[in-house]
Amino acid sequence: MINNNLFERYEKLKEEINFHNYQYHVLDHPVISDSHFDKLLVELRKYEETHPEWITSDSPTQRVGIVPTSKFEKINHPVSVLSLANAFDQKDVIAWRERLIRLDSSVADAQFVVEPKIDGLTVVLHYKNGLFLQGATRGNGEVGEDITSNIRTIRSIPLKIPINNKKIKIPVNLFVRGEVFISLSDFENLNRKMLENGEKAYLNPRNTAAGSLRQLDSSITAQRPLRLFAYTILASDGEIPESQWEVLEFLKEIGFPVSETSELCDGFEQVLELSESWQSRRDQLNFEVDGIVIKINDLYLDKKLGFVGKDPRGSIAMKFPAREEITRLSEIGINVGRTGVLTPYAILEPVEIGGVVVKQATLHNFDYIFEKDIRVGDHVLVKRAGDVIPYVIGPVLDFRNGRERVFKVPDQCPTCGSHVQQVIGEVAWYCMNTACPAQLVRNLEYFVARTGMDIVGMGIKIVEQLVEEKLLGDVADIYRLSMDDLIGLEGFATKKAENLLEAIENSKQKPLNKFITALGIKGVGEVMASELARTFSNLDKLSKATEEQLLIIEGIGPNIATQIVEWFEQERNQQILRKLKEVGVWPQIETDNITRNDNSPITGKVFVVTGTLAQYSRNEIKELIEKLGGKISSSVSNKTDFVLVGENPGSKSDKARELGVNILDEETFEKMVKEL
Ligand code: IVH
Repeated sequence: MINNNLFERYEKLKEEINFHNYQYHVLDHPVISDSHFDKLLVELRKYEETHPEWITSDSPTQRVGIVPTSKFEKINHPVSVLSLANAFDQKDVIAWRERLIRLDSSVADAQFVVEPKIDGLTVVLHYKNGLFLQGATRGNGEVGEDITSNIRTIRSIPLKIPINNKKIKIPVNLFVRGEVFISLSDFENLNRKMLENGEKAYLNPRNTAAGSLRQLDSSITAQRPLRLFAYTILASDGEIPESQWEVLEFLKEIGFPVSETSELCDGFEQVLELSESWQSRRDQLNFEVDGIVIKINDLYLDKKLGFVGKDPRGSIAMKFPAREEITRLSEIGINVGRTGVLTPYAILEPVEIGGVVVKQATLHNFDYIFEKDIRVGDHVLVKRAGDVIPYVIGPVLDFRNGRERVFKVPDQCPTCGSHVQQVIGEVAWYCMNTACPAQLVRNLEYFVARTGMDIVGMGIKIVEQLVEEKLLGDVADIYRLSMDDLIGLEGFATKKAENLLEAIENSKQKPLNKFITALGIKGVGEVMASELARTFSNLDKLSKATEEQLLIIEGIGPNIATQIVEWFEQERNQQILRKLKEVGVWPQIETDNITRNDNSPITGKVFVVTGTLAQYSRNEIKELIEKLGGKISSSVSNKTDFVLVGENPGSKSDKARELGVNILDEETFEKMVKEL
């Protein structure tokens, strides 16, 4: 009798824990604290210690096996585990649909389901009488490997179905197909922990998920943050839904994690629209997708359409351009930046990534090379995604042949041969020679750029040429260039020389904030330069500013304040400023100008801009807001007054909504401006 009560409590506990597992791992919505959850587990374990005969395979304590296996057994799949034909663009998708219509005219009115193609590994999960029995890899599609004990460790996979579900009848044998993967945030955390423990970081989520699933010791798999998205019923001996959309709902209903990004499309137009929007949507997800899968919703029609080889006709994968490729790193080059900072980059055997040939990739900094143990001659994984500059993720160790060379930070600047030094508290190494030609070129390039003095026609090639010809030794020399200097240089005809000299002359009229930006003081970007210009109104005043005076200004902390003061203290910089003044480059802000718009709704207000604007480029809108007395900030906070939102805004507009900051669309902003 007592035992009966205890058994009931034990069964209830099991159910309760499985429910909380589901809330936490599938819904991402825990309803009890971690410590409460742990207490329930401790209680469950106590029962199982005294009554081991009660333990069944769906007990939450049975997720991690104790005995490692020596090899994976083979498993015959109940039916072939098919793959998908690929499309690479909308044209291919349109052609696919046309082929289907020729086979069966009803496809013309068919509904489709568009799902993310998760970049993970297919698994087949066998449930018998609602209990998880076996898990297998895809293998060759007919025979896979038995990875049951590893699959059991994945908390989002139900050990028992349905969870709290009385409505649905579950077939006796149910084979669910899904994709195992590691989310991007979990991957980042995992790698951070690896580095903290002095271990090597993993290369990418997919390889890590694959390696984790193939561990013979499931206690290792249990430590990896594997997840699952289920998307198909591979086979069953009971009734199952008649459409793909209902299959997804069914799987969700019985406790499987299903991606919320899947969509049912009434018509093909919508499919094409989605295939377009997914190109950017993929960057907003917390898991990697390598494409989308487009499926005929009606499973009867899908079956009727049949197969080509191993690919069902009724579904197609539209692949996104690849973002990662492996290539050989033949050398490590070093760039010397404007402030003397040395930045390593990889010189690669050219490789095509997503339609672009990549020959170089950044290595971030020297520490990165050592942390990742990247060696010269290594085969490396290179990533090129969106706007991000291609970078080396890390070496692919399987390719090592022992001839790779460990990289050493050079003692000398690769350009001028001067001493290099690591600044205390910084990762970066610096060339300490302020007259280093590489630094000079970068300084000049920055000075003449659009963000600075905007000298049209003075690109990097001309800057390099003029430095090489010893016509430029600092930025002030630009204003001493004459027709005689230029004419006769390679590539300079009279017209080109005249245009350049005219552009140089015009740049003398640039406003003070541009001039301050152009000087390239470390830590002083465009926003801060505007702030400094407004506060000090000319360089004579700014050059005498003390750290205390600078610290009052919004956005300036002790480090930048020190850097500004030190920049003006340097004899070489003072000399350059004297020269600039002599040649008439000395912009001032008329005090009248500063107060011009004091009463406008924009004066003194902090703006954040997100998304693409129809009327203005990023630089133009910045200039306009600043001209009207407003300030631009890059992130939304309580200090933000307005967020100006364009097309395809980023998370900043969500944050603005969250914080209750005023949101303006471009039209409203225009009206505000016109009223001034
Ligand atoms: S459907 C016959 N749906 O992509 C059904 N596959 O290239 C075939 N994949 O082997 C699979 N996400 O590993 C399907 N939502 C999804 C998927 C998906 C990822 C993988 C799967 C498959 C490969 C096909």
